[in-house]
Amino acid sequence: MKRAVTPGTFDPITYGHLDVITRAAQLMDEVIVGVAASPGKAPIFSLEERAELARASTAHLANVRVEPFEGLLVDFARAVDAQVLVKGLRAITDFEYEFQMAALNYELERAIETVFIMSPPQYMYLSSSIVRELARLGSPVDQFVPAPVAEALARKFA
Ligand code: COA
Repeated sequence: MKRAVTPGTFDPITYGHLDVITRAAQLMDEVIVGVAASPGKAPIFSLEERAELARASTAHLANVRVEPFEGLLVDFARAVDAQVLVKGLRAITDFEYEFQMAALNYELERAIETVFIMSPPQYMYLSSSIVRELARLGSPVDQFVPAPVAEALARKFA
């Protein structure tokens, strides 16, 4: 059984994340969306809210489940018995950071492999902070995030 973790802060989850999760779910037997506490990023949604929005957005994917985690990603991956970390690569600017993270995680746990999925062009520019900024300024975000996320953002910035 090949089990992967797709990690992120998901503040909030976007269609870009969903693209990576959906494609990972086609490659793997099971995918666990690992929602990181990421206290250093001071997320606008609580850990439980971010996990709930990720659950609502992935409910249609039978082999995907969502779990929040605190601490190191490799410890979480070990705890859920995952052998693979799947990350999205959007642009060349992501590469250096992702290269560093993949190398660090390999150093921490050699049994866990990092695999990258290229984002399609329509999601190359997308990030959670862009979506938060649009919502904060009252711009519609429906083309960037699933409906439950758009509603949660509207409530947050009402
Ligand atoms: N589509 C759309 N947006 C994407 C994306 C995609 N495919 N991939 C990434 N992004 C966005 C994210 O939403 C995030 O946006 P933001 O910074 O505007 O909020 C940004 O790109 C950066 O993404 P990422 O590098 O995946 O950061 P993250 O904060 O979402 O997740 C963790 C980082 C959680 C994977 C990483 O910090 C981690 O592993 N934390 C656990 C602690 C640990 O083990 N640290 C390493 C050792 S010190």
